[in-house]
Amino acid sequence: MHLHIQKIINMAYNLLKGKRGVIFGALNNKSIAWKVAEKAYEEGAKFILTNTGVALRMGDTGKLADQCNTEVIPADATDTENIEKLFSRSVELLGGKIDFILHSIGMSPNVRKKLPYDDLNYDYFQKTIDISALSFHKILQVCRKLDAINEWGSVVALSYVAAQRTLYGYNDMADAKAILESIARSFGYIYGREKKIRINTISQSPTMTTAGSGVKGIDLLIDFTERMSPLGNADANDCADYCITLFSDLTRKVTMQNLYHDGGFSSMGMSQRAMIQYDKSFKDCP
Ligand SMILES: NC(=O)c1ccc[n+]([C@@H]2O[C@H](COP(=O)([O-])OP(=O)(O)OC[C@H]3O[C@@H](n4cnc5c(N)ncnc54)[C@H](O)[C@@H]3O)[C@@H](O)[C@H]2O)c1
Repeated sequence: MHLHIQKIINMAYNLLKGKRGVIFGALNNKSIAWKVAEKAYEEGAKFILTNTGVALRMGDTGKLADQCNTEVIPADATDTENIEKLFSRSVELLGGKIDFILHSIGMSPNVRKKLPYDDLNYDYFQKTIDISALSFHKILQVCRKLDAINEWGSVVALSYVAAQRTLYGYNDMADAKAILESIARSFGYIYGREKKIRINTISQSPTMTTAGSGVKGIDLLIDFTERMSPLGNADANDCADYCITLFSDLTRKVTMQNLYHDGGFSSMGMSQRAMIQYDKSFKDCP
């Protein structure tokens, strides 16, 4: 019985049959992009994986490529020449224009160096914005110039609720995410009007990945949002499922949206579980 249910859960629906994609950001098997690639493959898509040269040396992207019967093309997503080469080559290798793109890229040198928000290094700040937000614009601008995306194509970037609300420890990544979400709207208008291409961001629950573990107090944050969300946190696999629906033809009129994928967290003020925990915290006080 249990096996039967498991089989149904793992069943693919061919939602991406015949679609071609480019997936940025799969570093290791914890990466959200890794799970998206696995599910896209299960759903019948062909795609190219890409990451920076350093990430390709340090991570396991090659293994994932073997698993998904595809290739990896190195590209730094802050470099427009790299992006041009990536998309020209991807269209060649995949045998046609692209139907979906995942931008799953984030990095803040300020977070890495543990510099607090009121003592930022501005060179680092610019790097945060360049890597985590402008790279999205660069990818879209290059694709439009190369006319690399098919009509009714779908582009998704991953975001976080710190773009709207202040969360302790998220630092300059909050500003980067606010820009990222704005780019989805601004470019979504242009690309939608001209080519029916949709552009959205998914605002994902905190997730234990390499990027996630750099966020100050991530363990406590994950515990807090788990208690606050009626459905609990969404994990990387759940996120991948949501990405697949956005790449599929079932969401053709969804564009320029920031879509919360967080078990309800972003709509909560106080939950019963959090209140009980909050109350307990006073029991030890004199
Ligand atoms: N983990 C979380 O808690 C969480 C929550 C919400 C949103 N997100 C977002 O999800 C996305 C994926 O992160 P993840 O959690 O899977 O972590 P991850 O560390 O596995 O992925 C981040 C990826 O960005 C890549 N990258 C960094 N600089 C790059 C560059 N210049 N060019 C191309 N790629 C570059 C890294 O190599 C890595 O593969 C990020 O945008 C992140 O902000 C994560």
